[in-house]
Amino acid sequence: MLKQLDEILTSVAAAIAASDSLADLDSVEINVVGRKQGRLTAILKTLGGLSIEEKKIVGPRAQKVKIEIEILIAARRAELEAVSGAGLIDISEPVLPKQNYGALHPISIVREDLEKFFRSKGFLVLDGPELESEFYNFEVLNIPADHPARDMQDTFYIKDHPSLVMRTHTSGMQVRALETYGAPLAAVVPGRCFRNEATDVRHEHTFYQFEGFVVGERVTLGDLKGVLEACATHLYGPSTRVRLRPKFYPFVEPGVNGEVTCSMCGGAGCTLCKGTGWLEIFGCGMIHPEVLRAAKLDPEKVSGFAFGLGLTRIAMLKFGVGDVREFNAGDLNFLQQTIW
Ligand code: DAH
Repeated sequence: MLKQLDEILTSVAAAIAASDSLADLDSVEINVVGRKQGRLTAILKTLGGLSIEEKKIVGPRAQKVKIEIEILIAARRAELEAVSGAGLIDISEPVLPKQNYGALHPISIVREDLEKFFRSKGFLVLDGPELESEFYNFEVLNIPADHPARDMQDTFYIKDHPSLVMRTHTSGMQVRALETYGAPLAAVVPGRCFRNEATDVRHEHTFYQFEGFVVGERVTLGDLKGVLEACATHLYGPSTRVRLRPKFYPFVEPGVNGEVTCSMCGGAGCTLCKGTGWLEIFGCGMIHPEVLRAAKLDPEKVSGFAFGLGLTRIAMLKFGVGDVREFNAGDLNFLQQTIW
């Protein structure tokens, strides 16, 4: 019987090594340790009929052979599975519970898109401080302390720091950037802004702007219009038109309202554009000589244009958001809509 066990071990070890598929290996296994037809199983079943002395010798030996065979089979199975890829994906595994995946905020989507567009046109993308000095937020932009424009841009102040404000717009970065980089310069500045607002569906105390400016020799209003047209067609398609209408801003001269043909009705007139066919998107104009002087530039030598657009407003138009407060509410049902 011992001889028989040795013979089984040798031949089965050879068969295991020779098996070149998982199905092959399964049949080797069944033929040796299978409950019904296994050769080794058959021997183990006869142990009960042996004398005690025989059992003492054959029993442990048979168990050892069984264990050795099981080890050989397990090792060969791992090899074959690694080659075939089987076992890596268990299709019987239960489906995972629904995960809360992150999504880009709608304003980030619009901001990244515009940053990419302007970077492709050679503009720098700059960042600026949200807690800004009154000097850069107002003073350098030709808005002195007694100017009525300060009323329209009331904001949050910092206790015991009367010269600091939460910035009301990103326009102050015109001067900061020109001080750092000098002219010629083309840059855009996306960023969060703050105002003391009684909030409702259209007004929010915290919102996002996107400022842009170009300063250099012989920069003209025509250049401004060209840039706005490129930006508008990028946002709303090739048939979009831009019109400029006079509007006062203290830091541009002339100051202009940049309007685009309504993205919903294409200019025919609808509820979104209040029947006018136009949407006000840009505040813009030629940079005021006082602003250039504040940036230590000579308005006789260089000129520039500036424009600002509301990223929050662009996102409202793009995603059809009716209430501006949604953007800051942290409501997952709102935020997860941009997952695709
Ligand atoms: N900063 C202005 C605002 O918050 C928007 C603006 C208007 C920016 C005219 C400009 C500009 O650069 O030229 O309402």
